Amino acid sequence: MRTLVLVPALARASSLHSPQDRLTEARGLAEAIDLDVIDALLVPVPHPNPATLLGSGKVDEIKARIAEGEVGLVIVDHAITPGQQRNLEVAWNAKVLDRTGLILEIFGRRAQTREGRLQVELAHLSYQKGRLVRAWTHLERQRGGRGFLGGPGEAQIELDRRMLDERIVAIKRELEGVARTRDLHRKGRRKVPYPIVAIVGYTNAGKSTLFNRVAGAGVLAMDQVFATLDPTMREVRLPSGRRIILSDTVGFISDLPTQLVAAFRATLEEVIEADLILHVRDIAHAETEAQARDVEGVLGDLGIDTVAGAGGHILEVWNKVDLLSPVTREEAEAAARFREPPPVLTSAATGDGVARLLDAIDGRLGAADEILTLTLPASDGRLLAWMHDNADVLSQVSADDGTIVTRVRIASEKKARLMRQLKDAGLVLP
Ligand code: GTP
Repeated sequence: MRTLVLVPALARASSLHSPQDRLTEARGLAEAIDLDVIDALLVPVPHPNPATLLGSGKVDEIKARIAEGEVGLVIVDHAITPGQQRNLEVAWNAKVLDRTGLILEIFGRRAQTREGRLQVELAHLSYQKGRLVRAWTHLERQRGGRGFLGGPGEAQIELDRRMLDERIVAIKRELEGVARTRDLHRKGRRKVPYPIVAIVGYTNAGKSTLFNRVAGAGVLAMDQVFATLDPTMREVRLPSGRRIILSDTVGFISDLPTQLVAAFRATLEEVIEADLILHVRDIAHAETEAQARDVEGVLGDLGIDTVAGAGGHILEVWNKVDLLSPVTREEAEAAARFREPPPVLTSAATGDGVARLLDAIDGRLGAADEILTLTLPASDGRLLAWMHDNADVLSQVSADDGTIVTRVRIASEKKARLMRQLKDAGLVLP
C-alpha cells in the first residue's frame, strides 16, 4: 500500500533521539510490515491541535501531498486519540495508523510462541476497544472476522464491545495457563548445569546475526526491525569446552506503547534469570548512546543491576565495527580499554571479534570454576554418572590399566560435594 510516514516534532518532546533518527526509525518500522513508503516527513507541531494533533495548515499541506502521491495509508509516528485519527482520516481521505497501531501490527506478525501471540492479541484488543467509534478498518488482514468491518450502528458497536470484552477475559485466562506451563519448563531447564547467556539490545543492533554467528543456528535475520520477538535458545560449546545456553531476545525500542509493555516483559523473563547478559550495541549508529540508555532503562525496570563493573553481569558488545572508519575504530578500541569490564568489539557481519567474544564469555563465566583431572576406577559408574550430571566433562579416556582419566570443569561451590563423593569411593583428589 502506498504509504506516507509523518513524524510529528512536538515543541516539548522529551525524546533523546534526534528528529532525523526518528524519521529513519519510523520508516524502518513501516517497511518492516512491507508497506510501500513513498516519503517520510518531519512535521513541526508548535501548538498541538486537540482535533487533529497537527495544525490545520499542515493538515492541508499533507492533504495535497497525499492526493499527489496517491497515498492510501498515513502513518503518524506518535500516539493519537481515536478522535484525532478519525478527523485525520476524513480530512485526508486515507487510512491513518498511529505508532501504537503500527507496532502492534509488527508484533502481531513476529510473535512466535503461543504466549507472545496471546499477549499481542490482548494488547491489540484493548487498543481496538478504545477505537470502536467508527468503522474499524484494519490493515490488510482482519483478525478472525470479529466484526470490525462495515459501518456499525450503535447496536453493532455495543455488540463488538461485548465480544471484545469476552475475548479479553478468555485470553487472560489462557495466558495464566501458559505462564504456569512456562514456569514449569523453566524450572526443568534450570536443572541443566549450563549457564544461560542472554543477548539483548536495541532493535537492529545485530542480535540475531550475532546469535547465528555464535550458535551456527538458523534464526531469522533480516534488515528490518523486530526480526525476533520471542526468545530463541541454542546450546553452544565455548572454546574451553564449557557449554552454555545462548538466548536471543526481542529488540528494544524507545517509546514502546504502554499496551505492549506487558507483552514485551513476558518475552524478557529469560533475561532476568540469565547468568550473563550480552548487551549488543550498534556502535556505528549515530544514536548509539541514546539507544544504550533506552536498553539500560528497560533492564533497570526488570530489576537488573545495570551499573557497569566487574561485579555486574552485563557484557557490552560493540557490534558493526566494520562500518567504522579506521580512525573511529581506533577511538572505540581505546575507549573500550578504559571500561571495566572492557566491551568486546565485533562485526557479526564479517565474524570479526566473535572468537574474542567467546573467550570473554568464557572468562566471565569461568572466574569461579576449577578444572580437575581425575583418575577413576572404570567399575565406579555411579561416580562417573554424578560427574556428568554435576560438572562439565571435558574429556574421558580409558587407560590400559582399566582406569578412566577424566578432565572436568566444576563450579567452585560444587567442589566440596565432589570431594565427599571421592572420599565415599575411597579415592582422594590428586
Ligand atoms: P531485531 O530483531 O529487529 O531487534 O534486530 P537485531 O538486533 O536482531 O538485528 P539483526 O541481526 O536482524 O541485524 C539487523 C541488520 O544489521 C541486518 O541487516 C544485519 O545484516 C545487519 N548487521 C548485523 N550485524 C552487522 C555488522 O556487524 N555489520 C554490518 N555492517 N551489518 C550488520
